[in-house]
Formats: sequence, structure tokens, C-alpha cells
Amino acid sequence: MTITEDIKTLTKKERLLNVIQRQPVDRPPVWLMRQAGRYLPSYQEVRKQYTFHEMCAKADVAADVSLQPFDQFNMDAIIVFNDILIPFQHMGLSVEFTDKGPAVIPPVRTVEDARRIHVGEFDETPDVFNSIAEIRRRVGGDAPIFGFGGAPFTMAAYMVEGAMSKNLQHIKTMVYNQPDILHSLLDKITQTVIDYLRIQIQAGADVVQIFDTWAGTLSMDDYRRFALPYQQQIISTIQAEGTPVVLYVNGSSSVLREMKESGASVLSVDWKHDLASVREVVGDDVTLQGNLDPTALYAPPETVSRMTKEILDNHAKSAHAGNTGLIFNLGHGILPETPVESVRALVETVQAYEYSS
Ligand code: CP3
Repeated sequence: MTITEDIKTLTKKERLLNVIQRQPVDRPPVWLMRQAGRYLPSYQEVRKQYTFHEMCAKADVAADVSLQPFDQFNMDAIIVFNDILIPFQHMGLSVEFTDKGPAVIPPVRTVEDARRIHVGEFDETPDVFNSIAEIRRRVGGDAPIFGFGGAPFTMAAYMVEGAMSKNLQHIKTMVYNQPDILHSLLDKITQTVIDYLRIQIQAGADVVQIFDTWAGTLSMDDYRRFALPYQQQIISTIQAEGTPVVLYVNGSSSVLREMKESGASVLSVDWKHDLASVREVVGDDVTLQGNLDPTALYAPPETVSRMTKEILDNHAKSAHAGNTGLIFNLGHGILPETPVESVRALVETVQAYEYSS
């Protein structure tokens, strides 16, 4: 990784990597989780012609869709179009993306079910490799590309529930009644995610993010048992090989100390605590990503700008933050009905921000 001293002439890739290494930048970089998605009319157009699986499988289409937010809003990073549940197809399960969300078939509930699941088997060039390679070919070397995967607890939640679920009844029952089965699933998922991230890095991803969307529903003790050790395995392996990892947890406020213990270079936090308060807990030697409430984007553009500016100021004023250490993002993925004008206002506000040196 390069550290660039001249902060006035940073490329998007240098700005992002500088921030992750807590080096000075001119302003924070900005991108949005789920930025390639249904709020974009141009996404809807493509989606009419293909199923979700087809979009992930055709490198040209996946690259088109990944680049829509980059081209339309001048985002500071690209995230490859794919899904955290795609690797299940390589583990002996099948996944369908329906109007009601993803369905994992068959759900994994018993010892026998768990035995049938195997560590993901990927061929030389799985779809996600081709998609990232195609994006890299189109944008050249100056734009950063994010690869991603699910963190093990969140992937296990989908595997065991079989579908989106409000109360997480089946996985929580497994936490309490059959922890050994859950640990065996988490082990296989962890190996699979490490391989899936390595493939993406080989294809050209500069940074990878792991999404632990459901880990914030665990008690602190259970988070330490069922989420943290598996996050740590992924993060230490991938970072030892030279690529920074971003850890996202929804419901981060209750597990900030544990997130810090994961060792991730970047902690991606939700909107419930302001960033200065988050820094008081996690300290200065880690980069933060966040943290506008995604529903704030339903407000008029002027309000979005004001709220964005408040977050930027709040972080810049936090102790020792200085002119680095923040990747601007939402506190969770962008919602389908989000007005495009609000997204534009957010990005323009961040990109007009200047750190006082
Ligand atoms: O960020 C990006 O733009 C890249 C693509 C991306 C998708 N999913 C595409 C997608 C990323 C990073 C994800 C992550 C993901 N997928 C998570 C973690 C983040 C989070 O939001 O908590 C989770 C839990 C999933 C699982 C998943 N995939 C769900 C719950 C759903 C259905 C509900 C929904 O929000 O759309 C999907 C389908 C999915 N993944 C879509 C997209 C664009 C919608 C597909 C469609 O067009 O029908």
C-alpha cells in the first residue's frame, strides 16, 4: 500500500488507503453501503431484464451495476455487485432471491443438516472474480474497489432461519440449545468467507468489508462466543496477507469494545452513537466508517446536507481525530425508496468538506 504525502493531489484510491492507515487527507472519502441497488432507476432498468443471480453471474452486467453509483454520484469507492449469500451455493445449499428477500433451501437446523454443509468449493474464476476483474479493467488503477462477504454469525443466521426473520428464533434457539452445531457451522463458514475474500483480492479488490448485520442482537457474552472469534480469524488472516478489513455491525453501540478487539482496520458503525462518543470507546488507532441514519435520506436535500455536515464536524472535533480516520457512509445499507437527490446532496457535502490543517 502506498502512503501519499501530497494530500492535494490524492487519487480516490490513495485517499481511501491513507484514511485507513490514519494518514492525512484533504477530506473524508464517501461511499454508501448497498449503493448499487433498487433506489436507482438505472438499476431497476437492468433488474427488469435479469434475475438477481444472472446479474451476479454476468461480469458485464455486474460491472455495469457496480459502476452506476460511481458514475452518477462520483462516489469515492466502488463495491462489487454480489451478495453475502452467494457462497452458500458452493457449500451444498441453494439460495433464491424472491420479492420477500432471500430464501436458503433447505434451512440448516439439525446435526445431520449441519454435517451435509461443507466448506465452499470455488473454481478458478467464480463469478465474483470475473466481476471485479471487469470493474478493474474499466476503471483502471486509481479507483478503489471493495470486495465483501458476510461475517459468520450473520451468514449462519440466514442459513438456519432460511429467510429473513424478525426474531431470529431458530438461530437463537441454536445458540442456547445446540451451541456445538452452531460452532461447527461457524467454522465452515469462516473458512469459506476467507477463501471468498481471497478470490476477490486476487481479482483486484483493495479493501474488503465483512457484514455482521445480526451480531448486534447477541448479548455481549454471546457476541464474544459466537461472533468475535470468527470475525477475528477472518480479519487476522486477510490483514496478515496485506489487505485491510472493514467490520460492519448493525447495533454496534452495544459491542464497540468487542468490535475494536476484532482487530479490523476500520469499524463501520450504526447511527445510534455519535462518532466522537464512539472514538472515546475505541480510541484513536482505528478508522471509523459511518454513520448517517439511512432513513435521514428521506428528508429534503438541505436537511441531508446539514446532518452530513454535523457528522463530519463531530468527528473532526473529536479528540485526536485530526484530518483523517473517517470514511463517510450510512449506518446501514441504503433503503430502496431513497430519493436520488438526497444521495447527491450527501456526496456533494462530503466532497466539499475541507479539513482545517
Ligand atoms: O453494496 C452494494 O451495492 C453491493 C451489493 C450488496 C448486495 N447485498 C446486493 C443486493 C451488498 C454489499 C449486500 C450485502 C448484504 N446482503 C447484506 C449485509 C448488509 C445489510 O444490508 O445488512 C445482507 C444481510 C444481505 C442479504 C440480502 N440480499 C437480503 C436481506 C436481500 C433482500 C432484501 C434487500 O435489502 O434487498 C438481498 C438481495 C439483494 N442484495 C439486493 C441487492 C441489490 C436486492 C435484489 C433485487 O434487486 O431484488
